[in-house]
Amino acid sequence: MDVTTAIKDRKSVRAFLDKPVSKEILHAMLDTARWSASGVNTQPWTVEVVTGQTQQCITDTILDLRARAVAEDPDYSYYPEQWREPYKSRRKATGLALYGALGIGKGETERMVEAKNNNYRFFGAPAAMFLFMDRDMGTGTWIDMGIFLQSLMLAAREHGLESCPQASLAEYPNTVREILKVPEDKLLVCGLSLGYADPDAPVNGYRTEREDVDTFTRWHD
Ligand SMILES: Cc1cc2nc3c(=O)[nH]c(=O)nc-3n(C[C@H](O)[C@H](O)[C@H](O)COP(=O)(O)O)c2cc1C
Repeated sequence: MDVTTAIKDRKSVRAFLDKPVSKEILHAMLDTARWSASGVNTQPWTVEVVTGQTQQCITDTILDLRARAVAEDPDYSYYPEQWREPYKSRRKATGLALYGALGIGKGETERMVEAKNNNYRFFGAPAAMFLFMDRDMGTGTWIDMGIFLQSLMLAAREHGLESCPQASLAEYPNTVREILKVPEDKLLVCGLSLGYADPDAPVNGYRTEREDVDTFTRWHD
């Protein structure tokens, strides 16, 4: 698979087949992604791969917290406190497309909660990765983590896997750290669900849009 195809073909998948992913493939993805660039080659990422009972334990624990309305306590704020244009509209369009694909109408609060909770079920993916970085690293490290995340997602495509990067999986970092025995000085960046896409699931049947190059680029001769 060429790079352009991998980049354009990747999309967030939110329904996976009940088909295991081999450890060899997960290892091969990590073996590729470790060649990602990072500032002065810091390679600041650490990865916790979860499958099986451990994955189920994370799902059960987080869903229990949510059922008891325990507040989220992420290590960092992913989204702005105040949404403004053009991001507000893009966010709205993304939500509408997702709910549209799921057939969730306006005011169907319970179904919306259920759709949100599916994040913590890893959308049925048989494997996931949790990406951590050291808490005391500089802001630039976030660039490195993003590059690493993209490398993982592209490597997944080469092996026929689909993925969903998830900030939602970083909303209860203490819980995840406790289950995975990760020390407190590691900051949880995000989760990445991995598996084979369910081709029949309507939620996988739409694509998000992108702005044209000219809307975000200026050329200076
Ligand atoms: C760091 C990161 C965190 C994300 N968190 C979530 C999430 O928690 N749940 C979810 O359903 N999608 C999540 N997404 C997926 C985005 O909604 C998705 O990338 C965006 O709408 C573009 O669609 P595409 O990935 O299909 O191209 C996340 C994406 C990124 C890059």
